Amino acid sequence: MVLLGTLAVLFAACVSGLPSAAGDGPILDPRQNIPIPPALSQFPSGLLNQFLRMISMLPQGAAALDAIGLILVPLQQQLADATGIDTTENDLARNAACADVTVVFARGTVEPGNAGLFVGPPFFDALKKKLAGRTLAVQGVDYPATFAGFNRNGTDGVPSMTKYLNQAITACPKTKVVMSGYSQGSLVVRSTAKSLPAGTMSKINSVITFGDPRGKSAIPGAVGKQLTICHPNDAVCSGGFITVDHLTYGEDANTAAQFVVQQAGA
Ligand SMILES: *[C@@H]1O[C@H](CO)[C@@H](O)[C@H](O)[C@H]1NC(C)=O
Repeated sequence: MVLLGTLAVLFAACVSGLPSAAGDGPILDPRQNIPIPPALSQFPSGLLNQFLRMISMLPQGAAALDAIGLILVPLQQQLADATGIDTTENDLARNAACADVTVVFARGTVEPGNAGLFVGPPFFDALKKKLAGRTLAVQGVDYPATFAGFNRNGTDGVPSMTKYLNQAITACPKTKVVMSGYSQGSLVVRSTAKSLPAGTMSKINSVITFGDPRGKSAIPGAVGKQLTICHPNDAVCSGGFITVDHLTYGEDANTAAQFVVQQAGA
């Protein structure tokens, strides 16, 4: 009850635009009526507007942000449930049969499940279609994806992403391995790539980041196989904060899937 009370107060402070906990993060102008972009139009508008309103009025500081995260994660899971989207993918964790292509994907901050909602699922769907008869395995990276973790460059996700990449390479030597992430998940990709031996990176077939906080800068070991997709108005890609243009990478699912297929020669 105490926790819920605290959350209610934080939520009230958040939605009424009151000053919140001290911190050094940027703060956005409150925007009451965010037009719903086509990439998000499949979601029920009431829930989605609630989510967008909260995103547009986030408080400052990782601790306050992560308190709001306790509301944002289940809210996004509700959006997923309402539209029949799977936010968890565990093909490697459950030792599924080797596939022609294996994607290890790190979701963005406060996304639900281990594969998230806005980017992972549409990307996997588009890839499945483009692969036609060939098979796809997908594994989400198991990590907390908190705002605090963003400030640690996504290193919270490195052990899990490393484990699954190594498993895919070792158990399925013929599979084309795709290393991918969205938002903080892009930082997980970058921190993992930096820590992996060159010999391991050479066995990764393609590296794809969406809404990448480091923009289109080179990812270690990914020369010639990196695709970074950043929307022109996505401030996250230039070190800024979340706007609605950060939430619409579902519209790039086909572009990313095409890149995977091309790199895989599949
Ligand atoms: C995160 O990465 C940036 C860019 O590589 C670096 O300047 C910064 O020191 C890193 N932060 C932490 C906490 O490791």
